[in-house]
Amino acid sequence: MAVVTNFDPGRRKPETNALDALTALVAEDLEACNELIVQRMQSSVDLIPQLAGYIVAAGGKRLRPLLTLASARLCGYEGRRQLMLAACVEFIHTATLLHDDVVDESDLRRGRASANAVFGNKASVLVGDFLFSRAFQLMVEDGSLDVLRILANASAVIAEGEVLQLTTTNDTETSEQAYLEVIRSKTAELFAAACQIGAVVASRPSAEERALRDYGMNLGIAFQLVDDVLDYSARQARLGKTVGDDFREGKITLPVVLAFRRGTDEERGFWRRTLEEMDQQDGDLERGIEIMARHGALKDSVERARHYAAIARDALGLFPESPVKRSMLDVLDFVVDREF
Ligand code: IPE
Ligand code: IPE
Ligand code: MG
Ligand code: MG
Repeated sequence: MAVVTNFDPGRRKPETNALDALTALVAEDLEACNELIVQRMQSSVDLIPQLAGYIVAAGGKRLRPLLTLASARLCGYEGRRQLMLAACVEFIHTATLLHDDVVDESDLRRGRASANAVFGNKASVLVGDFLFSRAFQLMVEDGSLDVLRILANASAVIAEGEVLQLTTTNDTETSEQAYLEVIRSKTAELFAAACQIGAVVASRPSAEERALRDYGMNLGIAFQLVDDVLDYSARQARLGKTVGDDFREGKITLPVVLAFRRGTDEERGFWRRTLEEMDQQDGDLERGIEIMARHGALKDSVERARHYAAIARDALGLFPESPVKRSMLDVLDFVVDREF
């Protein structure tokens, strides 16, 4: 169901897409990474490349591997290890998407029917497991214990974040702090790791490794904040995911946390009925969006994202100016102002 709103949560429409600019800057590396993704998702069990190929071919922004490639470039690295590690990061991301769509019962992903909708939940979960395992095989092939430590840690933290989210689902009393802990774990940790390993392959000093990790972490928090705003405000065709999924799932994201706290008793009753008791009727999603708008909950969630993007910007301060640094800074604006 498409939700039509005229509501503008205070985001500027970017004239040029910073993601395209970064993609152009590392185009050759990204192409090599995409080839590795296709090569390394192969298996003699046909259903694996069928299902994995289905979600990989649907596209996606490739934001995390782009950040690994950009970070390695920013650190002056001239070898080729970043290509396989970028593929590895995208494998971990793809595995989490396959699992996440089963858990969230989502039926649209990257503009087409989700893998679970086409192949079923069982196949999605198991191929997700395969992609996770394949990612670890690639790390072993790379041979760096530091990289292995960073990405193994990220994988565990992502899983913790998804489980932690189960405990805040349907709980309208969830605090902003608890919400932040969830998104830091389930989303930002992989962005942090993706950037950090760029410095690791380049053998850069720990201050640079730390800076790239901080950049990725804060960018990742901003990214998920905006994802959660888009779930209520996006044009579905542009987003490629079903608008209103979070509401229908009883997921407590920052727009809900703010609207609940700022609301009247009657409005709090509405949130309890729809998100705790899961008693939802036609028109409830639209009413929820209207309440959020009245309390500036979507606008202020975007402002929070802008705040984390500003922290990410400062984290890159110690790197000298260069085209890749410019692009990585512009990506922060893309993350806040994006429509997909
Ligand atoms: C979706 O990530 C999952 C979240 C963390 C919100 P992306 O929006 O990066 O998904 P793709 O890869 O571009 O499809
Ligand atoms: C994404 O959270 C987190 C992970 C995939 C680990 P969401 O559930 O908000 O992501 P979308 O909206 O389904 O992409
Ligand atoms: Mg989801
Ligand atoms: Mg979402």
